[in-house]
Amino acid sequence: MARAGQGRGATGTLAADRPLGYDPRRVRIDLTTPPERPLTRAESFFAFATCLSPIPFMSRRQLNRPSPTLSLDQHLRITDQLPERLTSESLFGNTRPLELEIGSGKGLFIDTAAGRRPEHNFLGIEIAHKYATHAAGRLAKHDRDNALMVAGDAEPLLQKAIPDDSLAAVHIYFPDPWWKKKHKKRRVINPASVAEIYRALVDGGTFHFWTDVLEYFESAIEMIAAESPRFGPPIPDQPETAATSPVAKSAVTESAVIAVATEDAESPAIAEPTYRTHFDRRSQLHQIPVYRVRYEKHSDRD
Ligand SMILES: C[S@@+](CC[C@H](N)C(=O)[O-])C[C@H]1O[C@@H](n2cnc3c(N)ncnc32)[C@H](O)[C@@H]1O
Repeated sequence: MARAGQGRGATGTLAADRPLGYDPRRVRIDLTTPPERPLTRAESFFAFATCLSPIPFMSRRQLNRPSPTLSLDQHLRITDQLPERLTSESLFGNTRPLELEIGSGKGLFIDTAAGRRPEHNFLGIEIAHKYATHAAGRLAKHDRDNALMVAGDAEPLLQKAIPDDSLAAVHIYFPDPWWKKKHKKRRVINPASVAEIYRALVDGGTFHFWTDVLEYFESAIEMIAAESPRFGPPIPDQPETAATSPVAKSAVTESAVIAVATEDAESPAIAEPTYRTHFDRRSQLHQIPVYRVRYEKHSDRD
């Protein structure tokens, strides 16, 4: 989570040789510059991205602890307290479709999604205990009986505790980029985790991956095509808009959205329509492009 000072906007050096008008000083994307060669698959998805001009640094606000009067018993588990197999049955005592979010951060997505889709269950796994606790506090505050957070490393849990063909969706939003070459092997999207995600999804299940780091985006989709071709081609995933939101039917003006985004408030309802996660909200506020794709498992491709 700690990227202050590394600033996501600092992706310029990664893209210095890009032909799409990537300016390493301002990291500004200019889609009006014609490419000098046919676009790669990754670059063609670029056209689906929200292309605005990023700033080089995003400050972080202090994380509020959940109120001590709020019980987290139903919404926070540590890995030692988990059943051997993580399923809707073992975690929620029902058979609703289960969605997994890896790296939930402050929990805006899991909380909002659990509220919008009460017919599904949501499991968030967050390695940073204080963020897992914060996200659990959000779920407890909103009385979500279909969502819980696990404080732990998602990778071994995915590998050992999630049964085959059991997840309706896997969500990974704005994973830590691990900028340095020698650290890239720590990325949460890697050949082994993608193979596990494929294995764990039900037929027709979806894997959502959003990032604001172009190099991560490109290398991930190239790696998935090479290592997990059964996933088929990536599909552009749509950002939330006021128009498509099932929650807020009322018009939300841009200035109202930005006003809300500047407060790191407990996501008032007006913020729900346009942001899926906190990092998505920050990217929009700072006009940083976001690359959004999903994959679908179709076992007839196997
Ligand atoms: C950049 S933050 C994004 C948070 C959130 N998804 C969002 O978009 O606002 C990435 C999060 O992934 C968490 N994370 C990194 N590696 C993880 C792992 N192996 N298992 C679970 N969480 C992980 C980090 O602690 C961090 O909270």
